[in-house]
Amino acid sequence: MYIKNLVLKNFRNYGGEKFEFSPGLNVLFGKNAQGKTNCAEAVFYLCTGTSPRTRREKQLVKSGETAADISCVCEGRYGEVEISAHITDGGREVKVNGNKITRNADLMGNIFAVFFSPQELRLIQDGPDERRRFLNVSISQLSRPYFVALSRYNKILEQRNNLLKNRDLDLVFETLPVWDAQLCKYAAVVAQKRAEYISKLSPLAAEAHAYLTDGAEELIISPEKRYKGSEEELEKRLFDELSNNYDRDIRLGYTVSGPHRDDLDITINGADAKNFASQGQTRTAALAIKLAEVNVFKDACGEYPVLILDDVMSELDLPRRKKLVGRTDGLQTIITCTHAERVLYGRNVNKIMIEGGAIKR
Ligand SMILES: Nc1ncnc2c1ncn2[C@@H]1O[C@H](COP(=O)(O)OP(=O)(O)OP(=O)(O)O)[C@@H](O)[C@H]1O
Ligand SMILES: [Mg+2]
Repeated sequence: MYIKNLVLKNFRNYGGEKFEFSPGLNVLFGKNAQGKTNCAEAVFYLCTGTSPRTRREKQLVKSGETAADISCVCEGRYGEVEISAHITDGGREVKVNGNKITRNADLMGNIFAVFFSPQELRLIQDGPDERRRFLNVSISQLSRPYFVALSRYNKILEQRNNLLKNRDLDLVFETLPVWDAQLCKYAAVVAQKRAEYISKLSPLAAEAHAYLTDGAEELIISPEKRYKGSEEELEKRLFDELSNNYDRDIRLGYTVSGPHRDDLDITINGADAKNFASQGQTRTAALAIKLAEVNVFKDACGEYPVLILDDVMSELDLPRRKKLVGRTDGLQTIITCTHAERVLYGRNVNKIMIEGGAIKR
């Protein structure tokens, strides 16, 4: 699938602009702070309903304005899809082919996108939150049941945590099993879909990593080991785990077990990546995971997602830059960089220069 065009009005530093993209390589280039990342962000936002940079939508609206309007037209297997978003201080209204959607679940899955920026190093370096966020955004695009189960799980979890702080212990002990039955039902869906996803991602990431490092390094991603078995088994096991730990959870005032505490085990040549990888190794591992994500989407839906590479070229050495570009054959790629990269010469590239929140024509 590929995005044909993108229209931005009062989005970040853009007043009004229309981008025409090619199905292959698109390079957004220009000096720092001109609006390259802003454009890439808008694309990802229309695909997933989430910004890769912020959770505060208000930041997306141009300073001094009350609303941002963005839209894009995408060509995919099932024809054209138009997605638009009207973003204000008070919320947003998203439309797919002109029809207003009320839930983000209805947006996901229309246009698949993979976003990579230097910030993605956090996927390796930071705590488990970042890795769960990656899983959630990626799997939600592929699976509506996952997105729905995750939303419900989080809602019930919040209620459970509030209940744990209640002083009326009789009420707490009486209510917990009721909440937990619901909670575990959704937890099992989330855990299973994650395990399924990781089993697909892991060999693809190992392959991409071997490609980027010429086979010099081995990347292994392992899921939570406790998630073996069917959905029913997972549900039962988690329910027992929660039931056996009421006292602990009440004492702490929050729920200790469950998918909200999941992590991924990432090792490079056998050493834990978070604690031992160098900057370059971290970057390469993060990139390998993202390239693997591209292929997971391709395998799941039969067509490539849109690949957005924000500012990654300058961070890679020349051989890796070349290899990365080599991997973009056959899929729409939107790359931002400060100057039109030499590795991109000779290729059929749609170059767009950005200056001060507008295309320099
Ligand atoms: N809501 C907003 N209203 C107005 N301007 C904004 C808003 N949000 C961000 N900006 C401005 O947009 C400008 C461009 O940001 P962007 O991150 O797209 O730059 P860039 O071209 O990717 O630069 P770099 O090469 O440094 O990554 C910044 O100067 C920033 O202050
Ligand atoms: Mg940028």
